[in-house]
Amino acid sequence: MRSIIVYYSLEGNSKMVAESLSNLLGSELLQLEPKDPYPTGRVSKFLSGKDALSHKRPELVPYEFNADEYDRIIIGTPVWAGQPAPPLNTFLTENDLKGKRTSFFACSSSGNAAKCLKKMKEMAGAEDDAPLLSIIDPYAKPSDQKIQTIQQWGIEVIGRFDSDEDWDLYDTERQPLGKTMKRGSDIPDGAYHIVVSVWMRNSEGRYLMSKRSDKKKWCPGMWETTGGAVESGETSLEGAVREVREELGIELDPAKGRLVRSVRSDALHDFYDVWMFDVDVESDEIRRQDEEVSDVRWMTAEEIDKLWNENKMHVLLDYYKEII
Ligand SMILES: Cc1cc2nc3c(=O)[nH]c(=O)nc-3n(C[C@H](O)[C@H](O)[C@H](O)COP(=O)(O)O)c2cc1C
Repeated sequence: MRSIIVYYSLEGNSKMVAESLSNLLGSELLQLEPKDPYPTGRVSKFLSGKDALSHKRPELVPYEFNADEYDRIIIGTPVWAGQPAPPLNTFLTENDLKGKRTSFFACSSSGNAAKCLKKMKEMAGAEDDAPLLSIIDPYAKPSDQKIQTIQQWGIEVIGRFDSDEDWDLYDTERQPLGKTMKRGSDIPDGAYHIVVSVWMRNSEGRYLMSKRSDKKKWCPGMWETTGGAVESGETSLEGAVREVREELGIELDPAKGRLVRSVRSDALHDFYDVWMFDVDVESDEIRRQDEEVSDVRWMTAEEIDKLWNENKMHVLLDYYKEII
């Protein structure tokens, strides 16, 4: 699965959305640049807005793009005078995206992006139900809620590709609903599934970190602890033990598992359980699954801090300081 995010950004908001999606989904990035850059500032805003209203197509700095190389294309823009910024007009005219799986996001200061998103959808010849995201100045006025919304949207957009796994569904109190769903389909409102993250600590106080394969579609090459979605019929602990067996070839003793954190996320529709196991395994006894994991290392808390500070760790592990 190869995906790309094509965007234009004058003041950094659309750029932030594009970069956080790329970080989460492992998508490539293409930033459009007009040959004559648009100026910032109030007066020029009026003239740029006029260009957008009259659907101008400014010449772009040469770029390389071949739609056929991608399974999923995400396109983003700031809203200018209710319209897509003009560089998007050029891009969408120069490239035939008909029949491609496209999704669109727009940043605005008002939240009123419906017209702009509709216009982009039309220009791209996209399906009626193409996923859309409207977000208010996420860079100029950041909030955790906005970041969550962006991430949730990205996961929905890319999640639609997977469908080989069944998940059990639970209500807000974690009572089974007696229903299952296919991974990647939309999770109904009020329903949740269980996701596990498994930490292993050895007697030297080091934690086993694994590096996601470069072939993964989400966060390729990022460091994390083993984890994943619990499958239908499994308990959270059974899911944790299975994930570690599958990815690292380590057989954990379920009796040694301690649930150290459990959080319900309404945005991601999951109960996210964090398990801790005290276990001593030599690095050469680990049989990692190459398609999933490209490296494994026992690391100190300081080394893990360093990974996080250098943006080399999976974003969903942002809670790690609470447990190590
Ligand atoms: C020329 C221009 C026109 C704009 N017109 C609108 C508008 O019609 N509606 C709106 O809500 N925001 C409007 N904005 C605000 C931007 O859409 C918003 O701040 C967006 O987040 C900027 O994205 P960027 O940082 O990626 O350029 C306009 C901004 C500019 C520069």
